Amino acid sequence: MPTNLEGKHITLGVTGSIACYKAIDLASKLTQAKANVDVALTRGAENFVSPLAFAAITHRPVVTDVFDPQSELSIDHVALAERSDVIVVVPATAHTIAKMAQGLADDVLTTTLLATQAPVIVAPAMDAHMFDHPATQANVKMLVERGVTFAGPASGRLASGLIGKGRLVEAPELLGVIRTTLGRDGDLAGRKIVVSAGGTEEAIDPVRVITNHSSGKMGYAIAEAARDRGASAVLVSTPTALPAPHGVRMVKVRSALDMRDAINHECQDADAVVMAAAVADWRPVSAADQKIKKGASNEWSIELTKTPDIIAGLIGDSLVKVGFAAESQDLIANAQSKLVSKGLDLIIANDITAVDAGFATDTNRVTILDREGGSDDLPLMSKYDVGVNILDRVKPLFRREKL
Ligand code: CTP
Repeated sequence: MPTNLEGKHITLGVTGSIACYKAIDLASKLTQAKANVDVALTRGAENFVSPLAFAAITHRPVVTDVFDPQSELSIDHVALAERSDVIVVVPATAHTIAKMAQGLADDVLTTTLLATQAPVIVAPAMDAHMFDHPATQANVKMLVERGVTFAGPASGRLASGLIGKGRLVEAPELLGVIRTTLGRDGDLAGRKIVVSAGGTEEAIDPVRVITNHSSGKMGYAIAEAARDRGASAVLVSTPTALPAPHGVRMVKVRSALDMRDAINHECQDADAVVMAAAVADWRPVSAADQKIKKGASNEWSIELTKTPDIIAGLIGDSLVKVGFAAESQDLIANAQSKLVSKGLDLIIANDITAVDAGFATDTNRVTILDREGGSDDLPLMSKYDVGVNILDRVKPLFRREKL
């Protein structure tokens, strides 16, 4: 799946911690995402992992020595510093963090870090007592003040046997931090984009709800695509099985009424809203306070009332409104009439009967319709790429002044 990692030069600075093996997995994931991954290993790291392990994955030379005459990169370590779009110190030991704070340059990594203008991310891994030590805390604070981004450490069981804060963050979290950092100055920087996701839950009683099959994948992918381009992305989501994306602000809701309130609030200062959520059209008139008992009757009916149409009810001319039309028949005609009746700028028509599109899949095939009668049939693509395409069409429609 191409993301904003594609084609980027990412340098991993690997230092001597038992968590080094996790950096191999990260290098692999970044390489799969089509990033150009250079690895600088410290002497300490070489005790845990070999340069060959990284080279085999990245298909690029690994640098271990500032003065290695065999390496084009080592001779001119500044080249590595200059060509990096981001440098990630993973795992970062207390010792390397201390060297960074002091501006020492006694190995290939710290030399590169001193020479670079690229953003730097540090993912610490160490014993909890070492992380908590006032010296380490002071170094972290100093680096944060200088603009270094810290990812973790996470809490949990440590190599020492201690339970505490010092674990290297997991690769998905770190990938999110890298993508957010790379997107910082993207073409949507200064824009607030609100995305809704998931299927609403309409309570019948404390144990039962009326809901639908929406997985939330489409909305999460749009929010990630917006974040990757520097937008301030807000995801108004019902409970889903998906992890909260790093760098996206989550607003958790359950019912259509909750979602309406959250969307109305978030849209007050937003540039665009994309309603990817499957909002229930009907909800029980009232939810019972206690669990409803089965009783003797063989029949049961629930009285329903219509939910408010969230996107149609949004007021304000400056907001770009994008809706989805999930249809099982007359796709384009139904989508077109929703575009008009809901006062939208764009509508994404989505045939939910196709096996590779719609609910729970990672891909989607959509047609984007605009107010001027334009219609763009997109081929089958990842939901992330659908998000990229939607945002490409939203961008020229922004009506609010940039923040
Ligand atoms: N939508 C909304 N509030 C609702 C219902 C839908 O904001 N109460 C939004 C959806 O998030 C989507 C768009 O309106 O972006 C179209 O939703 P859809 O379910 O396709 O249309 P409905 O208006 O519910 O019409 P129908 O169910 O009759 O097709």
